[in-house]
Amino acid sequence: MKVAVVGATGMVGEVMLKVLEERNFPVTELIPVASERSVGKTISYKGTSYKVVGLETAVSMRPDIALFSAGGGTSLEWAPKFAEAGTTVVDNSSAWRMDPTKKLVVPEINAHVLTKDDKIIANPNCSTIQMVMALNPLHKAYKMKRVVVSTYQSVSGTGIKAVRQLENEIAGIEGEMAYPYPIGKNALPHCDVFEENGYTKEEMKLAREPQKIMNDSTFSVSATAVRIPTAGGHSESVNVEFENDFDLSDVRKLLSETPGVVVQDNTATNSYPMPIYAHNKDEVFVGRIRRDETQPNTLNMWIVADNLRKGAATNTIQIAEYLVENNLV
Ligand SMILES: NC(=O)c1ccc[n+]([C@@H]2O[C@H](COP(=O)([O-])OP(=O)(O)OC[C@H]3O[C@@H](n4cnc5c(N)ncnc54)[C@H](OP(=O)(O)O)[C@@H]3O)[C@@H](O)[C@H]2O)c1
Repeated sequence: MKVAVVGATGMVGEVMLKVLEERNFPVTELIPVASERSVGKTISYKGTSYKVVGLETAVSMRPDIALFSAGGGTSLEWAPKFAEAGTTVVDNSSAWRMDPTKKLVVPEINAHVLTKDDKIIANPNCSTIQMVMALNPLHKAYKMKRVVVSTYQSVSGTGIKAVRQLENEIAGIEGEMAYPYPIGKNALPHCDVFEENGYTKEEMKLAREPQKIMNDSTFSVSATAVRIPTAGGHSESVNVEFENDFDLSDVRKLLSETPGVVVQDNTATNSYPMPIYAHNKDEVFVGRIRRDETQPNTLNMWIVADNLRKGAATNTIQIAEYLVENNLV
């Protein structure tokens, strides 16, 4: 496979290169792509150095697959150009996610919807991926009615500029700001931009994407997204109301039998998911599983995952693997 990584110098791009290597994805030629600022820089992959190229050059090299993580504008403009050249694009930005002609895929849930004709495939939002990984098996068993989620999101979800802002604040250095306020010792109820309805774009992604991935619009999601000064992963407090009642031990069993999900839930040993331990892992960790005692058939849980791994790079590469394994590319 000739594989282009668009945004190879960014936070997600770097993890993509790592995950491609770790999973031994069948790369015969790697094409690292970034903005004009980075053209000519070298990237190391499996001990070999590759020169970063621009988008125009990358299209002309006709890769089999292009893994995009270079922002929505780049995806909107360039994904169709790659697709026209015969490349299958898996895109990490929000550009194509809600486009009804594009598939939005978490492989464990809906890879089966993919066909050879899908030339631009969307990777869901990082906070959505970890949430639906835990919700999907429970929805199948008990049928969800309503989800209320509050997120505690890592600065790595905003990109390199935000990680630098936090590092600068910790070191007492004045530097470029990725957020409108300091993030160290702070919590910003503001992820991505505000929409007209008072919610942020991130909150609306959490509200809309799960229905598309799970191909079911019978449940609703209400979200509050908050940025906190962590770097290893996103955490989510999730309250789910089901149509049918559940047994807590069955919930734990169902989740622990779900591929890609790890249950860490033992209050006696202070065992629960945390971003510092989810960091650099591909799994989604679920804990603090308990009944909401204020209304029937309702569950509370705490979900943590590395947003750069399962929330971005790993999910993207799992999609690419599915395409290769099923001769769809
Ligand atoms: N961070 C996350 O957890 C996460 C999760 C899911 C999805 N995403 C999405 O992934 C994308 C990248 O996020 P990130 O966190 O990796 O950001 P980042 O660290 O800021 O990296 C951005 C990357 O895009 C490249 N780029 C920027 N403008 C470009 C242009 N005009 N043409 C070509 N390349 C360009 C940059 O190249 P230069 O180095 O040359 O500037 C860099 O490689 C975004 O769309 C984001 O929404 C991020």
